[in-house]
Amino acid sequence: MKPGTLLALNWKMNKTPTEARAWAEELKEKYAPAEGVELAVMAPALDLSALAANLPAGVAFGGQDVSAHESGAYTGEISAGMLKDTGATYVVVGHSERREYHGETDAVVAAKARQAQAYGLTPIVCVGEGLEVREKGEHVAYTLKQLEGSLENVGPDVVIAYEPVWAIGTGKTATADDAEELAAAIRDALTERYGHNADGIRVLYGGSVKPENIAQLCGKANVNGALVGGASLKVTDVLGMNEAL
Ligand code: G3H
Repeated sequence: MKPGTLLALNWKMNKTPTEARAWAEELKEKYAPAEGVELAVMAPALDLSALAANLPAGVAFGGQDVSAHESGAYTGEISAGMLKDTGATYVVVGHSERREYHGETDAVVAAKARQAQAYGLTPIVCVGEGLEVREKGEHVAYTLKQLEGSLENVGPDVVIAYEPVWAIGTGKTATADDAEELAAAIRDALTERYGHNADGIRVLYGGSVKPENIAQLCGKANVNGALVGGASLKVTDVLGMNEAL
């Protein structure tokens, strides 16, 4: 059976707490849940309290990164316990922007995912190839290797986001068939790793998703939702995507 759909928003480094509150209030006024679709907002850590207080019931939220450490002398880091205390239920780990700008390896991503799970947070583990790898036709092998390293000793309470780096914020969306090719390969790898416990894991597509293309992408058999950056910032776009699913 296909797992339910997750519409996961990633605000990246956008919105002050004041703006987050206004966004959540606007959503509360206009949002009608779509059947079988869960909505979750991944926001800067400073915005999480505003989301906790103002999001409509049933809309989840989470962080965009988490420390692999429990607590202590790690200036600037946010712990899983801190995220959990805000009411967060998800956290993104291994986003390509963290991998690229902060040198995060698969081993670091796996350590972060394990730490998130230790606090009952569901990690959204991101994987995906760059343009050079895609052009060489090595995208499936590359992404599966990244997946394997990023899930080392990580339990099955995860979400996987396949995000081809060349499609992030560029306006170049992968075709629905491209998304399905990787989602199916990821699904097989998850089943091999977790057996039946993999059945409920959602595999998302991310990269220039918007109201106009989300239905086609998420209509594929193995694509169970989307991780959305740019189109997550305006409530009207979010409502459009929610309705299209
Ligand atoms: O986390 C979201 C992805 O990086 C996609 O971003 O929708 O702006 O392409 P985008």
